[in-house]
Amino acid sequence: MYALIRNVLFRMSAERAHTTTLRLLSTCPQLVRLAAPHIEAPASLHQQIWGLSFPHPVGLAAGLDKNAEAIPGWFACGFSFAEVGTVTPMPQPGNPQPRLFRLREDQALINRMGFNNHGVTEMRKHLAQRRPGFVVGVNLGKNKWTPNESAVDDYVTLITHVGTLADYFVINVSSPNTPGLRDLQSEEALIPLVQTILERRDELGSRPPVLVKLSPDLPDSALTDLAKALMTCGVDGFIATNTTIARNELCSPNAGESGGLSGRPLAQRSTDVIRLLHQATQGTVPIIGCGGIFSAQDAYQKIRAGAHLVQVYTGFIYRGPRIVKDIVDGLDELLRQDGYAHVRDAIGVDA
Ligand SMILES: Cc1cc2nc3c(=O)[nH]c(=O)nc-3n(C[C@H](O)[C@H](O)[C@H](O)COP(=O)(O)O)c2cc1C
Repeated sequence: MYALIRNVLFRMSAERAHTTTLRLLSTCPQLVRLAAPHIEAPASLHQQIWGLSFPHPVGLAAGLDKNAEAIPGWFACGFSFAEVGTVTPMPQPGNPQPRLFRLREDQALINRMGFNNHGVTEMRKHLAQRRPGFVVGVNLGKNKWTPNESAVDDYVTLITHVGTLADYFVINVSSPNTPGLRDLQSEEALIPLVQTILERRDELGSRPPVLVKLSPDLPDSALTDLAKALMTCGVDGFIATNTTIARNELCSPNAGESGGLSGRPLAQRSTDVIRLLHQATQGTVPIIGCGGIFSAQDAYQKIRAGAHLVQVYTGFIYRGPRIVKDIVDGLDELLRQDGYAHVRDAIGVDA
């Protein structure tokens, strides 16, 4: 079924296909529910993390639903959680189009969207309407024109506006498409930033978990040092990883486009980063693994490297909603084959 839909979507420009899909998911979640395969998540995949209940480990990665417009649609696709955003305090248009490219031969995408979004006031309206029972995280970024020295004000504004409406937050300092943003990943910049955000978070009654999403392009030693420092200052988790600016062995015509590369070519590096973070934190801080997941085997590798949960973006574009069920069913099988009664028993065994 999705093969047919994908044929139609892939004849459109990548961004038009994205807008069309989002419109369908936001206006007709019931239709999606009918078309998407039914998921019966086995007890072996259920986890309670940060006091939140995840029926299985597969979630939607940030960037597909920047304004939180289609939350019931993601639920209908079978995801156990969805991360919306990146949202910035003020609306911003992002970079000029074209800014999203398919690399079909590499099963990848390159994007330089640049945090196009309607701003936090608009997102707030959507979040306020959501029904409870489905975990929603909000990914936070700074406006393009905000200098890094005042970036903290943007993150504090965001958490103040949507602090009570999200189940978890992600500090995004790893997108390659906002000039200078990734400089905030230096220890000197990130630790005070995170400390201030955590202080603001602590003033909220609900005290939602705060995660940091990291770039796969940081050197291993920097990732290890950051993980240890962030753990000490009380961060609740990590997302590994965002897209990469590396370009290794690509063969698609669009390989030369600038921006962040996602999908298959990112898979190994993101798994390596998960392993590093798991080792650095000795498995004490939950990690959401993200990057190049197309199958249960891909997800399982990330779990074995140290991920508690996983997210997909590019795999969803190529495989459609079926990817969620395939991963859930396949994970159950893979755990059984390896003699694990529960997914928690497999987390970090390869680290
Ligand atoms: C078109 C596009 C837009 C994205 N936008 C965001 C974003 O706004 N914020 C963010 O943290 N990550 C964003 N990402 C990165 C994804 O969340 C994810 O980390 C990355 O694509 C790796 O996962 P994948 O290989 O499954 O796509 C975006 C990715 C793509 C392809």
